[in-house]
Amino acid sequence: MSEILSISQLNITPKNDIHRFLVKQVNLKLNAGKTTCIVGESGSGKSLTALSIMGLLSNQLKATGNISFQGLAINQLDNQSMQTIRGAKIGMIFQEPMTSLNPVLTVGYQIGEPLTTHLGLKGEALRSRIAALLNQVGIPPERADSYPDELSGGQRQRVMIAMSIACEPALLIADEPTTALDVTVQAQVLTLLDELKTRMNMAMLFITHDFGVVADIADDVIVMFRGEIVETGTREQVLNYPQHPYTQALLDCVPDVQGLKTLKPIDYAWLNHGAIA
Ligand SMILES: Nc1ncnc2c1ncn2[C@@H]1O[C@H](COP(=O)(O)OP(=O)(O)OP(=O)(O)O)[C@@H](O)[C@H]1O
Ligand SMILES: [Mg+2]
Repeated sequence: MSEILSISQLNITPKNDIHRFLVKQVNLKLNAGKTTCIVGESGSGKSLTALSIMGLLSNQLKATGNISFQGLAINQLDNQSMQTIRGAKIGMIFQEPMTSLNPVLTVGYQIGEPLTTHLGLKGEALRSRIAALLNQVGIPPERADSYPDELSGGQRQRVMIAMSIACEPALLIADEPTTALDVTVQAQVLTLLDELKTRMNMAMLFITHDFGVVADIADDVIVMFRGEIVETGTREQVLNYPQHPYTQALLDCVPDVQGLKTLKPIDYAWLNHGAIA
């Protein structure tokens, strides 16, 4: 299996409070052609972990540890070197897509931007690549001349996906890319991402708090709680045989297929029994 990304001993703290760990001792490895889902409740450190890979952490935060992408220690790179990787070899779909598209630029222009910057495409070559990308995400190519507010939420999400895969990245990070979409559109977007991952043999890091999504697309699962990884395993291991009480509690909150399971609030009693060191 070909390893794409390896994170070891990642810690993130506010610069002005270096004893408050927002992310603590995170280790993970991602392989080509595989999807790893990070799950965990709000504030558990999922987005900070993703942003640190992209080198986009707020400058109020301090990260330590190692992040190696295709063998290169990317956390040591200066911003200029990181810019040649970001959007080219590592793509990211952000948690708030509606605010990530520029309302005054056509979607074609925005999809074309990374192609010009990283691959130097211009003119007809650029236009045909934009059309091919729109096709790939299921949007008629003539929509290249539309502005974001002329598209539906699902179409805008597909534009974000087209932008993120434009340069055929080796790693795609998707931070809750379907949360704002209705269930049918969500299923379409998940299927699309899954197909693209397979076709392009990308490693995908997919952040969600929805175990339905995990069941659909994950190969491997990482469960985070208050900045720490409390459980990792294959999808089957984590969904069928959760080891950690927090994972069990999260799974207890998921209605089963018949919707018969009663929703229970998470019981944190295990926290007091030393389940987290
Ligand atoms: N710039 C910052 N300064 C201080 N604390 C921050 C900063 N950014 C995030 N945090 C804190 O770090 C913790 C982890 O945040 P993060 O955004 O990674 O959560 P998350 O798991 O992505 O949650 P959600 O599911 O709500 O998106 C939170 O407690 C958050 O308040
Ligand atoms: Mg987040």
